[in-house]
Amino acid sequence: MATIKDKILERLEGIDDLPPAGPQFLETQRLICDGKHDAGKVASYLEKDLALSAKVLRIANSVVYGGRYGEIGSLPQAIARLGMDEVCRLTMAVKAMAIFEKSSGVVDPMEFWHHSIAVAMVTRNIVAVSKHVNSDPGQTYIAGLMHDIGIFIMDRYFPDVYRKVRESAAAKGELVHIAEKRLLGIEHGEIGAVILEKWRFPEVIVTAVKCHNSPDEATDAALQLTQILHIADFACSAIGAGEPGDAVPQTFSLGAWHDLNIDADSLSKIVSETEEEIAKAKIMMNINK
Ligand SMILES: [Fe+2]
Repeated sequence: MATIKDKILERLEGIDDLPPAGPQFLETQRLICDGKHDAGKVASYLEKDLALSAKVLRIANSVVYGGRYGEIGSLPQAIARLGMDEVCRLTMAVKAMAIFEKSSGVVDPMEFWHHSIAVAMVTRNIVAVSKHVNSDPGQTYIAGLMHDIGIFIMDRYFPDVYRKVRESAAAKGELVHIAEKRLLGIEHGEIGAVILEKWRFPEVIVTAVKCHNSPDEATDAALQLTQILHIADFACSAIGAGEPGDAVPQTFSLGAWHDLNIDADSLSKIVSETEEEIAKAKIMMNINK
Protein backbone atom coordinates (compact mmCIF):
# COMPACT_ATOMS: atom_id res chain seq x y z
CA MET A 1 0.00 0.00 0.00
CA ALA A 2 1.27 3.44 -0.88
CA THR A 3 2.49 5.46 2.11
CA ILE A 4 1.85 9.19 2.59
CA LYS A 5 5.48 9.75 1.60
CA ASP A 6 4.94 7.81 -1.68
CA LYS A 7 1.85 9.89 -2.43
CA ILE A 8 3.70 13.15 -1.76
CA LEU A 9 6.61 12.09 -3.98
CA GLU A 10 4.22 11.01 -6.73
CA ARG A 11 2.42 14.38 -6.56
CA LEU A 12 5.76 16.23 -6.65
CA GLU A 13 6.73 14.34 -9.79
CA GLY A 14 3.49 15.41 -11.45
CA ILE A 15 3.64 19.10 -10.58
CA ASP A 16 3.70 21.07 -13.81
CA ASP A 17 2.85 24.58 -12.58
CA LEU A 18 6.00 25.36 -10.60
CA PRO A 19 7.25 28.93 -10.98
CA PRO A 20 10.07 28.92 -13.59
CA ALA A 21 12.50 29.71 -10.81
CA GLY A 22 15.31 27.35 -11.67
CA PRO A 23 16.56 28.54 -15.07
CA GLN A 24 15.77 32.22 -14.39
CA PHE A 25 17.29 32.20 -10.94
CA LEU A 26 20.51 30.48 -11.98
CA GLU A 27 20.84 32.64 -15.11
CA THR A 28 20.56 35.81 -13.00
CA GLN A 29 23.10 34.41 -10.56
CA ARG A 30 25.52 33.70 -13.43
CA LEU A 31 25.11 37.17 -14.90
CA ILE A 32 25.26 39.13 -11.64
CA CYS A 33 27.41 37.09 -9.31
CA ASP A 34 30.12 35.18 -11.10
CA GLY A 35 32.68 37.98 -10.77
CA LYS A 36 33.50 38.13 -14.49
CA HIS A 37 31.24 41.10 -15.20
CA ASP A 38 32.08 44.74 -14.53
CA ALA A 39 29.73 47.14 -12.76
CA GLY A 40 28.53 48.67 -16.05
CA LYS A 41 27.42 45.29 -17.44
CA VAL A 42 25.67 44.37 -14.20
CA ALA A 43 23.89 47.75 -14.13
CA SER A 44 22.67 47.37 -17.71
CA TYR A 45 21.42 43.83 -16.96
CA LEU A 46 19.53 45.05 -13.89
CA GLU A 47 18.09 48.05 -15.75
CA LYS A 48 16.20 45.67 -18.07
CA ASP A 49 14.09 44.58 -15.08
CA LEU A 50 12.39 47.72 -13.81
CA ALA A 51 10.80 46.19 -10.74
CA LEU A 52 14.06 44.57 -9.69
CA SER A 53 16.22 47.64 -10.28
CA ALA A 54 13.75 49.86 -8.40
CA LYS A 55 14.03 47.54 -5.40
CA VAL A 56 17.84 47.52 -5.51
CA LEU A 57 17.82 51.33 -5.58
CA ARG A 58 15.41 51.58 -2.67
CA ILE A 59 17.53 49.16 -0.65
CA ALA A 60 20.69 51.13 -1.45
CA ASN A 61 18.93 54.24 -0.19
CA SER A 62 17.80 52.65 3.07
CA VAL A 63 19.59 53.85 6.19
CA VAL A 64 20.95 50.45 7.13
CA TYR A 65 22.74 50.32 3.78
CA GLY A 66 24.24 53.79 4.10
CA GLY A 67 21.34 55.85 2.74
CA ARG A 68 22.05 58.55 5.33
CA TYR A 69 24.93 59.69 3.10
CA GLY A 70 22.58 61.07 0.52
CA GLU A 71 20.08 59.85 -2.04
CA ILE A 72 21.39 57.91 -4.99
CA GLY A 73 19.38 57.72 -8.18
CA SER A 74 21.16 55.36 -10.55
CA LEU A 75 22.15 51.71 -10.54
CA PRO A 76 25.88 52.41 -11.15
CA GLN A 77 25.81 54.63 -8.04
CA ALA A 78 23.97 51.93 -6.10
CA ILE A 79 26.54 49.34 -7.18
CA ALA A 80 29.37 51.69 -6.14
CA ARG A 81 27.78 52.23 -2.71
CA LEU A 82 26.87 48.60 -2.00
CA GLY A 83 29.65 46.80 -3.83
CA MET A 84 29.16 44.02 -6.37
CA ASP A 85 28.91 41.25 -3.77
CA GLU A 86 26.09 42.97 -1.91
CA VAL A 87 24.27 43.77 -5.17
CA CYS A 88 24.54 40.10 -6.06
CA ARG A 89 23.06 39.03 -2.73
CA LEU A 90 20.26 41.61 -2.85
CA THR A 91 19.34 40.67 -6.39
CA MET A 92 19.18 36.98 -5.56
CA ALA A 93 17.08 37.68 -2.44
CA VAL A 94 14.61 39.81 -4.39
CA LYS A 95 14.42 37.13 -7.14
CA ALA A 96 13.87 34.40 -4.54
CA MET A 97 11.07 36.34 -2.84
CA ALA A 98 9.26 36.55 -6.18
CA ILE A 99 8.93 32.73 -6.15
CA PHE A 100 6.77 32.71 -3.04
CA GLU A 101 4.76 35.89 -2.65
CA LYS A 102 1.39 34.38 -1.86
CA SER A 103 0.55 31.59 0.53
CA SER A 104 -2.34 29.20 1.02
CA GLY A 105 -2.59 30.56 4.55
CA VAL A 106 -0.53 27.95 6.39
CA VAL A 107 2.82 29.73 6.08
CA ASP A 108 3.30 33.49 6.27
CA PRO A 109 5.53 34.46 3.29
CA MET A 110 7.01 37.36 5.29
CA GLU A 111 8.00 35.07 8.11
CA PHE A 112 9.30 32.53 5.62
CA TRP A 113 11.55 35.00 3.80
CA HIS A 114 12.66 36.70 6.98
CA HIS A 115 14.10 33.37 8.09
CA SER A 116 15.46 32.34 4.67
CA ILE A 117 17.21 35.65 3.97
CA ALA A 118 18.62 35.78 7.49
CA VAL A 119 20.03 32.24 7.10
CA ALA A 120 21.50 33.15 3.72
CA MET A 121 23.17 36.21 5.20
CA VAL A 122 24.52 34.38 8.22
CA THR A 123 26.16 31.77 6.00
CA ARG A 124 28.43 34.58 4.88
CA ASN A 125 29.49 35.29 8.48
CA ILE A 126 30.27 31.63 9.02
CA VAL A 127 32.33 31.48 5.84
CA ALA A 128 34.20 34.57 7.07
CA VAL A 129 35.05 33.32 10.58
CA SER A 130 35.64 29.61 10.09
CA LYS A 131 39.23 28.76 9.24
CA HIS A 132 38.17 25.40 7.83
CA VAL A 133 35.65 26.61 5.29
CA ASN A 134 36.39 26.56 1.60
CA SER A 135 32.81 26.58 0.27
CA ASP A 136 31.94 28.98 -2.52
CA PRO A 137 30.27 32.02 -0.84
CA GLY A 138 27.79 32.51 -3.72
CA GLN A 139 26.68 28.89 -3.63
CA THR A 140 26.40 29.06 0.15
CA TYR A 141 24.16 32.14 -0.07
CA ILE A 142 21.86 30.51 -2.64
CA ALA A 143 21.61 27.39 -0.49
CA GLY A 144 20.59 29.61 2.43
CA LEU A 145 17.90 31.36 0.42
CA MET A 146 16.49 28.06 -0.85
CA HIS A 147 16.98 25.78 2.16
CA ASP A 148 13.32 25.84 3.24
CA ILE A 149 11.73 25.89 -0.22
CA GLY A 150 10.13 22.53 0.72
CA ILE A 151 7.99 24.43 3.26
CA PHE A 152 6.68 26.64 0.46
CA ILE A 153 5.91 23.51 -1.62
CA MET A 154 3.96 21.97 1.27
CA ASP A 155 2.04 25.23 1.75
CA ARG A 156 1.14 25.47 -1.91
CA TYR A 157 0.43 21.86 -2.88
CA PHE A 158 -0.53 20.14 0.39
CA PRO A 159 -2.06 22.91 2.53
CA ASP A 160 -4.53 20.76 4.51
CA VAL A 161 -1.98 18.10 5.37
CA TYR A 162 0.61 20.72 6.25
CA ARG A 163 -1.75 22.62 8.51
CA LYS A 164 -2.30 19.42 10.52
CA VAL A 165 1.46 18.79 10.71
CA ARG A 166 2.07 22.26 12.10
CA GLU A 167 -0.78 22.02 14.57
CA SER A 168 0.56 18.69 15.78
CA ALA A 169 4.13 20.08 16.09
CA ALA A 170 2.83 23.03 18.13
CA ALA A 171 0.69 20.78 20.36
CA LYS A 172 3.59 18.44 21.09
CA GLY A 173 6.24 21.19 21.37
CA GLU A 174 8.14 19.56 18.51
CA LEU A 175 10.32 21.04 15.78
CA VAL A 176 8.40 21.16 12.49
CA HIS A 177 10.81 18.93 10.60
CA ILE A 178 10.50 16.24 13.29
CA ALA A 179 6.70 16.37 13.08
CA GLU A 180 6.88 16.19 9.27
CA LYS A 181 9.00 13.05 9.48
CA ARG A 182 6.75 11.51 12.14
CA LEU A 183 3.49 12.17 10.33
CA LEU A 184 4.47 12.14 6.66
CA GLY A 185 7.66 10.06 6.58
CA ILE A 186 9.39 12.90 4.70
CA GLU A 187 10.51 16.35 5.84
CA HIS A 188 10.72 19.69 4.04
CA GLY A 189 14.46 19.42 3.33
CA GLU A 190 13.87 16.26 1.28
CA ILE A 191 10.85 17.83 -0.44
CA GLY A 192 12.86 20.96 -1.27
CA ALA A 193 15.62 18.81 -2.76
CA VAL A 194 13.15 17.13 -5.16
CA ILE A 195 12.07 20.55 -6.43
CA LEU A 196 15.60 21.98 -6.67
CA GLU A 197 16.55 18.93 -8.70
CA LYS A 198 13.65 19.65 -11.06
CA TRP A 199 14.96 23.22 -11.32
CA ARG A 200 18.43 21.78 -12.13
CA PHE A 201 20.22 23.36 -9.21
CA PRO A 202 23.80 22.13 -8.65
CA GLU A 203 23.99 18.77 -6.89
CA VAL A 204 25.88 20.19 -3.92
CA ILE A 205 23.05 22.68 -3.19
CA VAL A 206 20.38 19.99 -3.65
CA THR A 207 22.11 17.73 -1.11
CA ALA A 208 22.77 20.55 1.38
CA VAL A 209 19.09 21.54 1.31
CA LYS A 210 18.01 17.90 1.62
CA CYS A 211 20.19 17.33 4.70
CA HIS A 212 20.11 20.75 6.39
CA ASN A 213 18.30 19.31 9.42
CA SER A 214 20.48 16.19 9.55
CA PRO A 215 23.93 17.25 8.32
CA ASP A 216 25.59 13.96 9.29
CA GLU A 217 23.67 12.34 6.42
CA ALA A 218 25.21 14.57 3.70
CA THR A 219 27.57 13.16 1.10
CA ASP A 220 31.25 14.09 1.47
CA ALA A 221 31.04 16.53 -1.46
CA ALA A 222 28.18 18.47 0.14
CA LEU A 223 29.11 17.99 3.79
CA GLN A 224 30.65 21.39 4.47
CA LEU A 225 27.92 23.36 2.72
CA THR A 226 25.31 21.34 4.62
CA GLN A 227 27.06 22.03 7.93
CA ILE A 228 27.24 25.78 7.23
CA LEU A 229 23.54 25.82 6.40
CA HIS A 230 22.70 23.84 9.51
CA ILE A 231 24.67 26.12 11.87
CA ALA A 232 23.32 29.29 10.19
CA ASP A 233 19.80 27.91 10.65
CA PHE A 234 20.55 27.31 14.33
CA ALA A 235 22.09 30.81 14.81
CA CYS A 236 18.98 32.43 13.31
CA SER A 237 16.71 30.35 15.52
CA ALA A 238 18.76 31.32 18.60
CA ILE A 239 18.34 34.98 17.77
CA GLY A 240 14.62 34.89 17.12
CA ALA A 241 14.55 34.46 13.35
CA GLY A 242 13.80 30.78 13.41
CA GLU A 243 12.19 28.47 10.95
CA PRO A 244 8.55 29.36 10.28
CA GLY A 245 6.32 27.27 12.49
CA ASP A 246 8.90 26.11 15.00
CA ALA A 247 7.46 26.52 18.48
CA VAL A 248 10.64 25.37 20.24
CA PRO A 249 14.28 26.44 19.77
CA GLN A 250 16.24 24.57 17.17
CA THR A 251 19.00 22.17 18.15
CA PHE A 252 22.28 21.67 16.31
CA SER A 253 24.68 18.91 15.36
CA LEU A 254 27.83 18.86 17.50
CA GLY A 255 29.65 17.17 14.62
CA ALA A 256 28.87 20.13 12.32
CA TRP A 257 29.97 22.58 14.99
CA HIS A 258 33.20 20.67 15.56
CA ASP A 259 34.02 20.28 11.85
CA LEU A 260 33.52 23.98 11.11
CA ASN A 261 35.85 24.69 14.05
CA ILE A 262 34.11 27.82 15.28
CA ASP A 263 35.50 29.05 18.61
CA ALA A 264 33.65 31.03 21.31
CA ASP A 265 34.91 34.45 20.13
CA SER A 266 33.87 33.68 16.59
CA LEU A 267 30.50 32.52 17.82
CA SER A 268 29.79 35.82 19.57
CA LYS A 269 30.94 37.68 16.44
CA ILE A 270 28.55 35.59 14.33
CA VAL A 271 25.70 36.29 16.75
CA SER A 272 26.23 40.06 16.80
CA GLU A 273 26.62 40.23 13.03
CA THR A 274 23.54 38.04 12.69
CA GLU A 275 21.47 40.68 14.44
CA GLU A 276 22.71 43.26 11.93
CA GLU A 277 21.97 40.92 9.03
CA ILE A 278 18.47 40.28 10.31
CA ALA A 279 17.84 44.03 10.35
CA LYS A 280 18.92 44.09 6.70
CA ALA A 281 16.66 41.13 5.90
CA LYS A 282 13.71 43.08 7.31
CA ILE A 283 14.53 46.06 5.11
CA MET A 284 14.58 43.82 2.06
CA MET A 285 11.24 42.28 2.89
CA ASN A 286 9.53 45.58 3.53
CA ILE A 287 10.83 46.84 0.23
CA ASN A 288 9.43 43.75 -1.45
CA LYS A 289 5.89 44.37 -0.15
FE1 LIG B 1 14.39 23.98 7.38
